[in-house]
Amino acid sequence: METVVSGIRSTGHLHLGNYFGAIKNFVKMQHQHRCYFFIADYHSLTTHPTPDDLYRNVRQVLIEYLAAGIDPEVATLYIQSDVPEVAELYLLLNMNAYKGELERCTSFKDKVRTQPDNVNAGLLTYPVLMAADIIIHKATKVPVGKDQEQHMEMARTFANRFNRLYKTECFPPPYAYNFDEALVKVPGLDGSTKMGKSGAEGNAIFLADEPAVIRKKVMRATTDSGPSQPGEPVSQPIQNLFDLMGIVSDQGTLTHYQDAYKQGTIRYGDMKKQLAEDMIAFTAPVRERILAIDADENYLRKVARMGAEKARESARQTIREVREIIGFASALPVN
Ligand code: ADP
Ligand code: TRP
Repeated sequence: METVVSGIRSTGHLHLGNYFGAIKNFVKMQHQHRCYFFIADYHSLTTHPTPDDLYRNVRQVLIEYLAAGIDPEVATLYIQSDVPEVAELYLLLNMNAYKGELERCTSFKDKVRTQPDNVNAGLLTYPVLMAADIIIHKATKVPVGKDQEQHMEMARTFANRFNRLYKTECFPPPYAYNFDEALVKVPGLDGSTKMGKSGAEGNAIFLADEPAVIRKKVMRATTDSGPSQPGEPVSQPIQNLFDLMGIVSDQGTLTHYQDAYKQGTIRYGDMKKQLAEDMIAFTAPVRERILAIDADENYLRKVARMGAEKARESARQTIREVREIIGFASALPVN
């Protein structure tokens, strides 16, 4: 049985990109492998240094994980900061992570551009913490969206470097995973190629959105003036709508609108109405579960406690091994 790890930052509600890029696979994999899924609250501090209410954000992601179908009795579902061993491994890996390689990371360069007043060391070492998250459980499979490809490459680099440096085989190299298919990238409604929490207003459809909100966002999605003649190439915003339809609608619906585009008879308004209804049909049951779980504080506390215990047990073993490999002579009895 292989070990699987993946995480989502506690920076807001989960959207269709998170679902189809990541969580859908978490749900599928939980019965086949030893799975660890977590809420990356340490990571959220790199972009949200003083969240109004850290626990509220963490709690929301926990609720949405559960509502989307993660079974906490089967998978280990935990909060990153409940496992301080991750922070220790991060510190140790940082000693062998170089400024040059970290500065070349695309997500770091993006953040330097988008938050120039807060280019903190946590942002620079973000991929090191992510590597620690993964290898603390010696995971080999990491279900993530396409945007995480480079981070995964770096995680492998750090794992392999540790092995080489200390002449050990402690860490198996971890790989991004999507059931032998290409990694997923769900586009946004604002014409951009990625649906994201930090995109423009209305870019993302959240699992918790009410039907009326979904209709409004989809009807406002960016389009173009339409094909002026049959066979015209498809612009990015329209391709995004087709891609979204490919994800939430049935094949017949998608083909119908693709044919209409080719013939130059498409009406974007009709297509958007259909897309909105298909998104609502998909999200409505998840939203119902979100509301039900939200009302059950005892259950949430129980899930978090159970996850923390299971995750710590696995993390403690790895840290013990790592300390021995590096050569720390602990004066304290091993706990
Ligand atoms: P966001 O990018 O919205 O801030 P996160 O960075 O916390 O969300 O992403 C958590 C997971 O969801 C990662 O595995 C990431 O690859 C995936 N993901 C996020 N947005 C998308 C998207 N638009 N398409 C595919 N996967 C996505
Ligand atoms: N970097 C990921 C993202 O932004 C979140 C994340 C943190 C993660 N640690 C991880 C994903 C470990 C997979 C495994 O989406």
